[in-house]
Amino acid sequence: MSSLDNSKPNLLSGMQPSASSLHLGNYLGALVNWVAMQKDFNAFYCIVDLHAITVPQDPFELRANTRRTAAQYIAAGIDPAHSALFIQSQVPAHAQLAWVLNCITGFGEASRMTQFKDKSQKAGAESASVGLFTYPILQAADILLYQPKAVPVGEDQRQHLELTRDLAERFNTRFGETFVMPQAHILKETAKIYDLQVPTAKMSKSAADPKGLINIMDDNSSITKKIKSAVTDTDGVIKADAVNKPGVTNLLGIYSAITGESVLSLEDRFAGAGYGVLKTELAEVVIAAIGPIRDRANELMSEETELDRLLALGADKANAVAEATLAKVYERVGFIKR
Ligand code: AMP
Ligand code: TRP
Repeated sequence: MSSLDNSKPNLLSGMQPSASSLHLGNYLGALVNWVAMQKDFNAFYCIVDLHAITVPQDPFELRANTRRTAAQYIAAGIDPAHSALFIQSQVPAHAQLAWVLNCITGFGEASRMTQFKDKSQKAGAESASVGLFTYPILQAADILLYQPKAVPVGEDQRQHLELTRDLAERFNTRFGETFVMPQAHILKETAKIYDLQVPTAKMSKSAADPKGLINIMDDNSSITKKIKSAVTDTDGVIKADAVNKPGVTNLLGIYSAITGESVLSLEDRFAGAGYGVLKTELAEVVIAAIGPIRDRANELMSEETELDRLLALGADKANAVAEATLAKVYERVGFIKR
């Protein structure tokens, strides 16, 4: 059943099933790396539905977004026959280890997590759930169950990785060597994608104007429309200059991230051309890259039984590894095996 190659180190990462579509920033900033890393690692990619319910979710939407997220990852090149792509709630050890880790985490320690402070402020301090408070501890459980060498995440997750390492070390000191120290693998910022309407802000699903955001699931004509209406400037020169020309710089950055052609070479090739020419060509490049992913994802979503089967395969692989770690943990803390 398991096609895991034990000569390679493990890798784990997680993504929230909280949107109906990934955006171009998620794809170029994270997913492309995840796909590439499958070659050198036994990769575990976890769709974190337990994390998703730390804020209110509509059950129908949660189920749909979980499948949509999985479909997009597979369509973009996460190979479910090779890596373990799985749904967190289908691997009970995540919640079980999280409880044990909750019991060795200090209240003050958890209170210092900046993401909780941000998110609970947004929810209003009184309505934030206790689940949201222990979110990073569940994330630590996700990671430590798989003894991963690398945890590819964005810069915003650094603090959670540090907590994970602190908890691993604390557990090992108290109960004996159990967990491998995970390393954060902070994804490099070279492929940071900005909003097409507000090119000084990161492209984000919470964009004020939907025109600023290219979604993987967008149809070709709306991709073209969004790129054509991207904010630029009035001097008409195709040149990267993040301070004075953030819009044009972003367009060049997206182009370069997709095709691998350097920004310098693009500046050369487009010298003397107008923004319209750059935008037309960029739209073609973006459509060529994400169009097939969207089409494959739609196909997978229309084959729900097959999609669920692939995810069950991932859960089987994940369960095998996670249960072994949990059994060791339970034994070390003094639980009696039934
Ligand atoms: P989020 O949807 O913000 O939780 O991000 C999921 C992943 O996508 C993280 O690894 C981020 O680093 C990456 N990501 C999100 N937005 C962007 C962006 N605008 N440019 C590059 N990477 C991004
Ligand atoms: N907190 C991560 C995010 O918001 C998602 C996540 C959950 C995760 N568990 C994880 C990331 C384990 C890496 C490893 O993006």
